Amino acid sequence: MHVLTSRSSRLPLAWAELPDRALRPDEVRVATRAVSVNPVDWKMREVSLLGFAQRILGPRGPFVCGVDFAGEVIEAGPKADLSVGDRVVGGTDFSRSQRGSYARTVQVRASQVAVLPPNVSFDAASCLPVAGVTAAMAVRDHGGTHRRPGSRVLVLGASGGVGHFAVQLARIDGAAVIAGVCSQRNTGLVQRLGATPIDYGAGDALDAARALGPFDVIVDAIGSTTYPVRRCKALLAKGGVLVQIMPMPRDYLHLAIPGPVKTVLGRPSRQNLAPLVAHLAAGTLDAVIAERLPLGEAERAHELSRAGRVVGKLVLTADA
Ligand SMILES: NC(=O)c1ccc[n+]([C@@H]2O[C@H](COP(=O)([O-])OP(=O)(O)OC[C@H]3O[C@@H](n4cnc5c(N)ncnc54)[C@H](OP(=O)(O)O)[C@@H]3O)[C@@H](O)[C@H]2O)c1
Repeated sequence: MHVLTSRSSRLPLAWAELPDRALRPDEVRVATRAVSVNPVDWKMREVSLLGFAQRILGPRGPFVCGVDFAGEVIEAGPKADLSVGDRVVGGTDFSRSQRGSYARTVQVRASQVAVLPPNVSFDAASCLPVAGVTAAMAVRDHGGTHRRPGSRVLVLGASGGVGHFAVQLARIDGAAVIAGVCSQRNTGLVQRLGATPIDYGAGDALDAARALGPFDVIVDAIGSTTYPVRRCKALLAKGGVLVQIMPMPRDYLHLAIPGPVKTVLGRPSRQNLAPLVAHLAAGTLDAVIAERLPLGEAERAHELSRAGRVVGKLVLTADA
């Protein structure tokens, strides 16, 4: 198994050859064709809560980063309901002792992947697992937009990986108002995706959002240092929820008590990926790709992601 490995962000990712683990009966081996980059990929290489969790719960041996992948099944266990040649998308899971997706092949349970129809590209599909699933959990599972057409939704960080999917899912679910906070350079994109853009450089974004509220759902993909919980809560309608995608330790008190502040942990599975794949296939959902880089340039992709200005998603492509 040819993988990109580096435990520390101070040592660049480098290719290494690791032995393949024997396939369990319910697992598939997938040749990766595209891998998308999430901030969690580089955060796990740093001294962080995620890095610590990966060290405790992850597989032994060299650390392989990455979660999202799309590719082709090259081997299927006898209890896996997939066949060699199936085109799939999924996410690796270190808590199941699985290695990451920055690799020529990954090995996951069949229930962790969804099948791709021929009109969905590997590049677009690879953007879904962490960012798309997290957005769906925020907007739909917590926000209930699919059960309640006519919702009012505010997305803080509407141009990022999670935010650009959150805006589109709210639009698909028939939200009456979608406001998307972004920088001036991204207002055109956010409008095209279906939201009324609020340029955070033009003044206080939360003050500007008040005119479009109160909101049934606020998705904060940036964090409470920039968008304080107290101020976001003041923009909620009765019964509304604030979903923090990246809570800070000081937010844990809000999350611990029953109330309007929630968080999510995006965990891709066939069940939560399949509806997103269907939207890509139908052309109702768009995976915005900022840049494609070869898998071997993952270190450069991490630099770009760490800078925090990626519009949509970064995709690493692997040769067939
Ligand atoms: N809980 C989970 O399961 C989960 C899942 C996915 C991600 N996350 C976390 O959630 C966060 C967001 O992830 P992501 O993948 O969406 O990140 P991302 O794609 O890297 O977000 C970057 C985007 O944020 C915009 N931005 C930066 N500052 C902003 C501000 N003050 N207001 C509004 N927009 C701003 C940037 O555009 P401009 O610079 O032009 O504004 C850029 O488009 C990360 O911390 C990530 O680790 C958590």
